[in-house]
Amino acid sequence: MRAHELNKVPDQVILWGGTGQAKVVRPILEHYGAKVVAVFDETPGLPSPFPDVPIFRGWNGFLQWKADRKPGTVGFCVAIGNPHGRVRLMLHDRLVAEGLEPLTFAHPTAYIEANAIIGTGTQIMAGAYVGVEASVGMQCIINTKTSIDHEDAIADGVELSPGAVLCGSVKIEINAWVCAGSLVLPRVRIGADAIVGAGSVVTKDVQPGTTVVGVPARPMPGRTGAKAGGA
Ligand SMILES: CC(C)(COP(=O)(O)OP(=O)(O)OC[C@H]1O[C@@H](n2cnc3c(N)ncnc32)[C@H](O)[C@@H]1OP(=O)(O)O)[C@@H](O)C(=O)NCCC(=O)NCCS
Repeated sequence: MRAHELNKVPDQVILWGGTGQAKVVRPILEHYGAKVVAVFDETPGLPSPFPDVPIFRGWNGFLQWKADRKPGTVGFCVAIGNPHGRVRLMLHDRLVAEGLEPLTFAHPTAYIEANAIIGTGTQIMAGAYVGVEASVGMQCIINTKTSIDHEDAIADGVELSPGAVLCGSVKIEINAWVCAGSLVLPRVRIGADAIVGAGSVVTKDVQPGTTVVGVPARPMPGRTGAKAGGA
């Protein structure tokens, strides 16, 4: 969808994932008029991130919550960061199949060019920029003060962590994770499930499933990317 189509949120929303990302997205959703009515997380014993919102455990907890509630439109945001982009995509399909509405939104201080395309379920945080003719896939997390430049193509389930900068015509494949403060030079391709460690400068293509770090970024010996275990 285009910038003007974002931020249409129903009155009631749920968050899947009960840690830091839930805390980041809640004020944005409330800014657009939604109320967070429940949080879901698999982690045993994890307390709700919010004293005023109940937390439910995993898929069984979700089904129980759904059975007990009154009918009506409910939106959802999967607030789980990478390396778990594929989990966001799986939960997206399951929650849509249960009749919930994916939320696609951007913090009011983010700037998205009119001809950029944003995929369903993607969340864009404060101060982010999405440039001319850029495309961002489904269920991506475009974090605080990231910069996506002209003609970048970002696939589904990608996260750009705070302060990551992509130069123009960069391609990022499914579930890759560009960590905080990294810089990716023009026309570089980052493969599926790859991880670019914090503060790296990526000068060459990154192979799928690898982790690179440093300036210039080099593969981290003995470490795979997100699909085989993650961070
Ligand atoms: C790349 C990364 C995922 C690797 O995690 P890891 O496998 O747990 O790595 P470790 O912490 O065990 O570190 C292994 C070695 O790599 C080094 N290293 C780790 N990350 C590095 C980085 N970004 N740049 C340079 N070196 C790094 C460590 O210093 C350590 O070196 P040593 O063995 O000489 O002590 C992680 O370090 C990273 O960069 N995470 C970023 C997280 C982020 O941006 N989060 C944003 C949330 S909003």
